[in-house]
Amino acid sequence: MPDPRRDYLTLLLSQYWFAPPVALWRAVELRVLAAVPFDRPILDLGCGDGLISQVLFADEAPIECGFDPWAEQVRKAAATGMYAEVQQAQGDAMPYPDATFATVYSNSVLEHIPDLMPVLAESARVLRPGGKFIATVPSDAFRRLLAGYRARVEVGDFNGAAAYADGVDHFLAHYRYPDPARWAEMLAEVGLRLQLSRYYIPAETAAAWDRANHTYGIYPQSRWLYRLLASPRLRKLGYQAWLRRWIVRRLSSRWRRLYELDVPPEGVGSGLLIVAQKPEHV
Ligand SMILES: C[S@@+](CC[C@H](N)C(=O)[O-])C[C@H]1O[C@@H](n2cnc3c(N)ncnc32)[C@H](O)[C@@H]1O
Repeated sequence: MPDPRRDYLTLLLSQYWFAPPVALWRAVELRVLAAVPFDRPILDLGCGDGLISQVLFADEAPIECGFDPWAEQVRKAAATGMYAEVQQAQGDAMPYPDATFATVYSNSVLEHIPDLMPVLAESARVLRPGGKFIATVPSDAFRRLLAGYRARVEVGDFNGAAAYADGVDHFLAHYRYPDPARWAEMLAEVGLRLQLSRYYIPAETAAAWDRANHTYGIYPQSRWLYRLLASPRLRKLGYQAWLRRWIVRRLSSRWRRLYELDVPPEGVGSGLLIVAQKPEHV
């Protein structure tokens, strides 16, 4: 079982020191995912380079399967040793028999897929009866919790706020932000029952994350200094090991509260955890 008490913030800052806001967002995701039981066998849908599963299932036996459409990511995921099998495949054509997995999980993937319903249908098909579909996605509050959006709304610049959020969507290649009710409908269409939807990344963390994307040069046309200092082209100058240690030490304490903050009851957050179940008897 994943461990919700692990310090995912420090772990991810040391992995993503060159892009600290990525570390913050993903560390919160891991903390949230780690509180959910994962039954085996597990499929990691859109596994990317495998780093997230590697951190989430550290000290456990490799998980059964992962797949991703991107060949380079598949190669990296296989190299982690975290998967018994890794395939190159698309979410709408999974290379597995019906009813294979007890858990299909997907971290930060579904928002990037233009045609989602066939991927949900495939997830339902490869799940065993009683199996769980677990996903983290940006929520329906994602756009309005961006610091840049809020600042423009506060001065009445509603068009500017929408344009700001459109720019972030475009940069991150996000296609949609369903709310929990819409998730329940989409999942029901493929025979899955929404069991739990839980917001994470509260307003304060979301705003700090958005600002940090400017500070650390993640967004296009944002501050370039940190991006330059962390650039792989400058690795040969030898200072980056020091920069990495400095960033990990500084931000693992500065961002601790943002990392640990939960969304208040009845509140919304920028991220949404979805847990759905395939009924035991259809
Ligand atoms: C933001 S990355 C997340 C990767 C990994 N889950 C993680 O948390 O690090 C999104 C991943 O979704 C994958 N992806 C995009 N379209 C997909 C599709 N149609 N089916 C499955 N995966 C897809 C991409 O190749 C990419 O690796």
